[in-house]
Amino acid sequence: MLITIDGPACTGKSSVAEGVAHALGFDHLNTGAMYRAVALLFEREKIAYDDFGRGMACLAAISLHEPGGQVRINSEDVSDQLKNYSQQASLVGEHPHIRAYLISLQRRYAEGRKLVTEGRDQGTVVFPHAQLKVFLTASYESRVIRGRDRFPGWNEAQIIEELRIRDERDAKRKYGALKIPDGVTPLDTTHLNKEQAIAIIIQQYREISKTSH
Ligand code: DC
Repeated sequence: MLITIDGPACTGKSSVAEGVAHALGFDHLNTGAMYRAVALLFEREKIAYDDFGRGMACLAAISLHEPGGQVRINSEDVSDQLKNYSQQASLVGEHPHIRAYLISLQRRYAEGRKLVTEGRDQGTVVFPHAQLKVFLTASYESRVIRGRDRFPGWNEAQIIEELRIRDERDAKRKYGALKIPDGVTPLDTTHLNKEQAIAIIIQQYREISKTSH
């Protein structure tokens, strides 16, 4: 059983995905952390973002582990070091071969699990047959409030610009673009708190569970 949650940054994806997974007893996978880890790896290895030949050669260092799909570089858990790699992760995501490698890890991780997986392409490209697909949206103003801790010392206009640049790159990329999956009505979290968004998704899950039995 798979639930995908896609959407732009700071719409509440991670906390909502974690909450849904917790409430239903599912595992949770944050695929953004994987792109961030590749950006960290490139920085450590001094690999330019457009030097994908060298980039591909070191990708085998990235893997997923328990608990919770924790991302490792070799044997090191790097989950706590990924906060400042947003734009870099978005640049890394441009490359189809890097995407293909991370997608293969994501699919392998999902095998035989009940999983809530979040990202940009989970419901469209990676798991097009997921039983429930969610797409979160929110106003820029509410996204700034949600994301404020990630941008210490920045004013609202700077944060909006940062989000806007990333949204545009993520939505326009040739492979794995940020896109509403076919037939999905976006869930606007502008005026919802975390618990309300989680409750709506759990309700949707219960509805599809009823009809699939
Ligand atoms: O979800 P996040 O903000 O941690 O993601 C960081 C960047 O990684 C995002 O701007 C684009 C890229 N990404 C992607 O291309 N595909 C995904 N499934 C997840 C993230």
